[in-house]
This record gives sequence, C-alpha cells and structure tokens, in this order.
Amino acid sequence: MKITSVSGDITKQELGVIIVNLFEGVQQPDGATGTVDRALNGIITSLIADGEINGTKGEMTLVHTLGTMPTPRILIAGLGKQEKLSKEIIRQVMGTAARYIRKLGVQSAGTIAHGSGIGGIEPESSGQAIAEGMLLGSYTFKHYLSNEEPNQKRELEELQIVEQEKGKISSLQQGIDTGRILAEATSIARDLGNEPANILSPAEMANRAHQIAIETGLGFQVIERSQMLDMGMGALLAVAAGSNQPPKLIVMEYHGDPENESNNIALCGKGITFDSGGISIKPAAGMGAMKGDMSGGGAVIGAMFAIAQLKPKINVIGVVPATENMSGGSATRPADVVKAMTGKSIEIDNTDAEGRLILADAIGYARNRGQKRLVDIATLTGAARIALGTVASAILGNNQALIKRVIDAGEAAGERFWQLPLFEEYREQIKSTVADIKNTGGQGAGAITAAYFIAEFAEEVPWAHLDIAGTARTDKNSGYLTSGSTGVGVRTLVNLVTGLAENPEN
Ligand code: BES
Ligand code: MN
Ligand code: ZN
Repeated sequence: MKITSVSGDITKQELGVIIVNLFEGVQQPDGATGTVDRALNGIITSLIADGEINGTKGEMTLVHTLGTMPTPRILIAGLGKQEKLSKEIIRQVMGTAARYIRKLGVQSAGTIAHGSGIGGIEPESSGQAIAEGMLLGSYTFKHYLSNEEPNQKRELEELQIVEQEKGKISSLQQGIDTGRILAEATSIARDLGNEPANILSPAEMANRAHQIAIETGLGFQVIERSQMLDMGMGALLAVAAGSNQPPKLIVMEYHGDPENESNNIALCGKGITFDSGGISIKPAAGMGAMKGDMSGGGAVIGAMFAIAQLKPKINVIGVVPATENMSGGSATRPADVVKAMTGKSIEIDNTDAEGRLILADAIGYARNRGQKRLVDIATLTGAARIALGTVASAILGNNQALIKRVIDAGEAAGERFWQLPLFEEYREQIKSTVADIKNTGGQGAGAITAAYFIAEFAEEVPWAHLDIAGTARTDKNSGYLTSGSTGVGVRTLVNLVTGLAENPEN
C-alpha cells in the first residue's frame, strides 16, 4: 500500500472511498468532515440528528455520495471523545477502518489528517499514526492458504492523506515515512511469530535476520554451537540439547555512533522457536501457541530493521539466542547442573523454565561485548499473563531511569508496561543447595523470580526486562492488532533507542 500526503480539497478527489471522522457528541461536524457533510447535503448531520451514528470510538458508517462528489463512498469513522484523542486512538481507528475498507474491495482511498485540526495532534504524528494503523490493521498471514478466501477482494493499493493546508504536507509525509518503517518492522515480528516451528527453525530465523541485515546494511553474525561451547554458554546449550535443530545465537549490529563506542545498548530477545517444555513437558492443550515463544527475538529483529533505517546516533546490538526446547534422548533433565557464560552454576529444576537460561547467556555475551545498557524482551512467564492479562506487559529491572524510559517509549507506541518489584527477599526463592542458583522460584511471584534469575546475570549493568507472555499473541482482530502474533515491543524498542540517541541523560 502506497501512502502519500497530497494538498487539495477532499471533496474534489476521485478515489474508491474517503475516510472522514466524527467525534462523539458532535451535532454539527466542522473541519474536513463538515466540508464533506455540506457536499453531501447534510447527510452526516442528519444521521447524527436521527441518532443513527454518534461518533463512539471505532464506529464505522458507510454512505454513498450518489454523484454529489467524484468519490462514490464516504466512511465516517468514530474517534470517540475529542478531549481523549491521541495518536493511539488514531492508530486503533485506522486499523479498524483498514479492515472495513478491505471488504469494499476498493483500490484507492483517501483520508483526512485525523486530529491535526481541532484535535490538537501535530501533522507529523497524525501522518505516522494513520500509516501505522492502516498498515498494521490490514496485516494478514495467509501464505499457506492455497485458495484465497472466496469473498477476498483486492487489497488497497493507494491511500492519500488529503490536506487543505499546503504547509502541513511535508510534515505529514515525514510522519507517514516513519510510520511505514515502524509498521513494516512490526510486520516482520508478526510474520516470525506466526510461522509454524517446522518452517521457522533456529536456522531459518537466522536466515531471515541475515536477509534483513543485508537489505538494511546491518552487521550480522551467527554464533554456532561449537563457538557456544568455546565461549562457555552452558545454559543456552542445555536448552538446545534435546533438539535436532542446531541452536543459533543471532547477532545484528548497528553502528550509529562509531566515534563513541561506549554509547551503546544491547537488545536481547528470547528466541525459542518452539517450547514443548522439554522433559518437564507442557500439557497438550494450547501447546501450539508455543510456536510464538520466539516473539521477543522477533521483536528485536524487527526493531533492528527499523533502527537501521531511522539511523539514530547510538550503537545497538540485537542478540537473539534461538533454539527449540524439546525432549529427547539427549535432552537436559530436571536436577541437571550447568554453567552459564558468566561463570555461575545453575541447577535446572524445571526444563520448561528455559527462557531465562538462554537469556542468561545472551546477556553474558552482550556484557562480554562491552554493552553499557541491556534490555531483554521475552515471552517468559505464564505468571506475567496471569498478573496483567493481554492489556499490559510486565517490566522489571535494576535501573529505574532505564525502566522509566522503556515505559515512556511504550506509551508513545501505544504499548503498556507495568512495573513489578525486584525486592531482595525474592532472591530466597531461587536459591539452590547444589548450584549458585536454580531456574525456578516455586509458588508465587513467578514473573518476578524469573526476572530475578536474569538479574543475577546482568549484575551491575543497567538492565530492563520486558515480559511479553500475555501480549505477544491475541486471538481476535481489534484496532490495529490482528489475530495471531502482535509484534509487541518492536515500536517500544525503536522509540527507546531513538530517544536514548537524542537525549542520553534522561
Ligand atoms: N514460554 C513459557 C511462558 C509462556 C506461557 C509464554 C504462556 C506465553 C504464554 C515459558 O518458557 C514457561 O514455560 N514458563 C513457565 C516457567 C515455570 C516452569 C517456572 C511458566 O510460566 O509456567
Ligand atoms: Mn517454557
Ligand atoms: Zn518458553
């Protein structure tokens, strides 16, 4: 879908459909919607007066223009209360509109720059939110379907954001361009999360990351099993032991501040391409969802794709330990003891607590590479999902300034993070009698004890941990989220990195 900003009168455009908006409670629309209403001889005003539409968030109403305008249809999108309007609401409403339009089968559409009039949103933000919402809302994953769905019509080829004021066109376009990069990055993460594990093996995940690195000019390397052994990555190797698929530690590198090596950050993403639980095997029901247990890794790969194009002045490495967690003759057993790269010994109490093990070595690797800040992202614990549901991801860490920056970066992306504490007392739960630490924390505070385990490997390096177990997948289309993998974290990580580059000291 091509998205452009054009200057002109929206009522004069000849397109398949034009999207205007309506705030809740407005009796007489003004601005661009008002202009369209007048051209339509007051149809919108009369629909409101008759109580047929009221502008609640996500309300979609289609009217035919019957020759009053060159464009045959108008879609009136409800934006909710004017005082509550935000970039996130524009994204959500445009996501819903994108799927509505798909059913019409039109090839071209126009929209007004939602919020940039009385809504009080900057044109650049409006353009970005429209692009993100439209592109993400129309995301699909169906390349394994031999036949197109019978009622599947043509995909939208072109979207124009039509704006009367010429002075706003270039900022709108700038926003569109950023929004496209972020949406494409998120779609990369969604694709990875939606791929079945027989296709997306660790090797295939590495191939896809490599392809992205080539396209965007990122540095790239894969640490193979033999090098993992040399480097002492006993925790990652323990998880990989039960699988016939060789593990890959994927490393993507962006050098945005080569003069200043220490201005850097590592993004580490859990890349379990399938989590069967290993010998501590999971119940059968719903196990298929564990093809998405590499979503943290997918978010890192997607974020690196965007960072390479946005070019912030900071150095970033993306580190994705990729492996399956399988049971088999050579699989790691409960009570086995292994040694992680940082030198700590680990008692593996439960082989299903594998994410923290592979992250321990990813963080060991990042620290060895002199990384000054660490952020990890992982579908780590069922407990995070129990605590926060699908509405927010959990965040924990050892550095409040970094945590706050992630939360703020998430807020700007429409992704919510809620902090859980790392009180010292939780350390008790991961004490082992046979090793330095064990990989489970027993009853209670499962998301916290998992994070505490990782904290033991980050040690004094500023570190934030994002547990996306509840938010990485959704089972329904809603706003710009589509059922399946959500790509959560991509836009937050990108905002975090660009924000750190612009303003390193808080
Ligand atoms: N990948 C799972 C966590 C998960 C659960 C993600 C549900 C998404 C949805 C993780 O590897 C896991 O199995 N965690 C265990 C840890 C336990 C054995 C200490 C859990 O949360 O039950
Ligand atoms: Mn597991
Ligand atoms: Zn897992």
